Amino acid sequence: MIKIAPSILAANFSKLGEEIAEVEKAGADWIHIDVMDGHFVPNISFGAVVMEAIRPLTKLPFDVHLMIENADRYVEDFAKAGADYITVHVEASPHLHRTIQLIRSFGVKPGVVLNPHTPIESILPILEDIDLVLFMTVNPGFGGQKFIESVLPKVEQLARIIKDKDLDIDIEIDGGINEETIVACAKAGANVFVAGSAIFGNVDRAAALQRIKKAGQE
Ligand code: DX5
Ligand code: ZN
Repeated sequence: MIKIAPSILAANFSKLGEEIAEVEKAGADWIHIDVMDGHFVPNISFGAVVMEAIRPLTKLPFDVHLMIENADRYVEDFAKAGADYITVHVEASPHLHRTIQLIRSFGVKPGVVLNPHTPIESILPILEDIDLVLFMTVNPGFGGQKFIESVLPKVEQLARIIKDKDLDIDIEIDGGINEETIVACAKAGANVFVAGSAIFGNVDRAAALQRIKKAGQE
C-alpha cells in the first residue's frame, strides 16, 4: 500500500486549515511540512509556530522535512508542535547519529534525507536506528521543479538492502512527483510520495490526489 503526503508548501497559506481538510478528505495519508531556513536552502518557508497552529485541524501524521542548519537546536520545538516524523538532511547533519537519537528521545520517528547527488553509503551504518529514508528528486528549496530521474538507482539499491536485512523502513520520494513520475518511483521500491504542486496546483485537489495514488498503485 502506498502513501501520499501532500506538501503544504504549495498550498494557499491564507487558508491552510481548509487546504489540509480538503486533502485529508481526498485520501491523503500524511501531511508533508517543508521547513526551510534560507541557509541550508535558498528559501525561507515557516517554522514550528505555524505547524502548531494547524496541528489540531487534522488527525493525519505530520511528516516534518527539516531543510535547516543546526537541526538539533529545533528538534524539540517541532516535536512539541506535534511532529510524527522528523527528517534531517545528511548533508546538514555532521552528528547524524546523535540527531537521530535526539529525535527519538521526544517520541518522534526519525528519518534521514538525501539530496539527489548524495550516495546512500553514509546512512548504511544507521539504518537500524531510523524509520524513514527520504530521497530528494529535486534540489531542495522550491516546489514545482522538474523530477530528477537519475536518483532512482539509489532508491532501488536501498530498497534491496532494506529487504535483505528485513528492516521496517519507509522509503519516501520528494520532488516533482505527479501521476507520471510516481510510476517509476514505486517500481524502484518507494512507498511514500510527497506531492506539492501536482496536488495544490489543481482546482480539484481530490481528483489530482486520487489520480496520483492510483498511478502509484498500479
Ligand atoms: C522541496 C520540498 C518539496 C516540495 C515538493 O524542497 O522539499 O517537498 O514541496 O514540491 P513539488 O511536489 O511541487 O515538487
Ligand atoms: Zn519536502
